[in-house]
Amino acid sequence: MTVLTSSSVQIRSGDDVVRVRQEVRARAIEVGLGLVDQTKIVTAASELARNTLDYGGGGTLMIEGLQEGSRKGVRLTFEDQGPGIADIEKALTDGYTTGGGLGLGLGGAKSLSKEFSIASNPGRGTRVVIARWK
Ligand SMILES: Nc1ncnc2c1ncn2[C@@H]1O[C@H](COP(=O)(O)OP(=O)(O)OP(=O)(O)O)[C@@H](O)[C@H]1O
Ligand SMILES: [Mg+2]
Repeated sequence: MTVLTSSSVQIRSGDDVVRVRQEVRARAIEVGLGLVDQTKIVTAASELARNTLDYGGGGTLMIEGLQEGSRKGVRLTFEDQGPGIADIEKALTDGYTTGGGLGLGLGGAKSLSKEFSIASNPGRGTRVVIARWK
């Protein structure tokens, strides 16, 4: 697998969440994802960016354009240095929230992504990686 392109978006405000959506849409189009796949990854990215901001205290999104053989894809890595998630299974459960949300974002982002991984060290931060291939 080759990383063709790589860029970052800082997530520090609600405006940055809007920028995340725009950037992810543009890069998804670049690798040739269809409208439905674009919308899925943009929606997942939006939820993850929100969590990065609201619970992670802000962080970074890295967007990579990938190629494997003739396949192209896009990979998103959200990282923050916030409090982390003590129980990931619980956090993924629909309806579980420690904020005022619906508790649907993380599980929703997972359902929308064929490739999804989450790693978190309590006290150190959280990293969520999703990818989508054409
Ligand atoms: N980056 C993060 N750092 C720390 N905790 C997180 C992070 N992302 C999610 N969580 C925890 O996981 C819980 C569930 O997240 P999820 O996105 O599913 O729901 P929500 O953000 O509370 O509500 P919704 O996304 O539906 O508005 C959050 O309430 C929070 O406790
Ligand atoms: Mg959320």
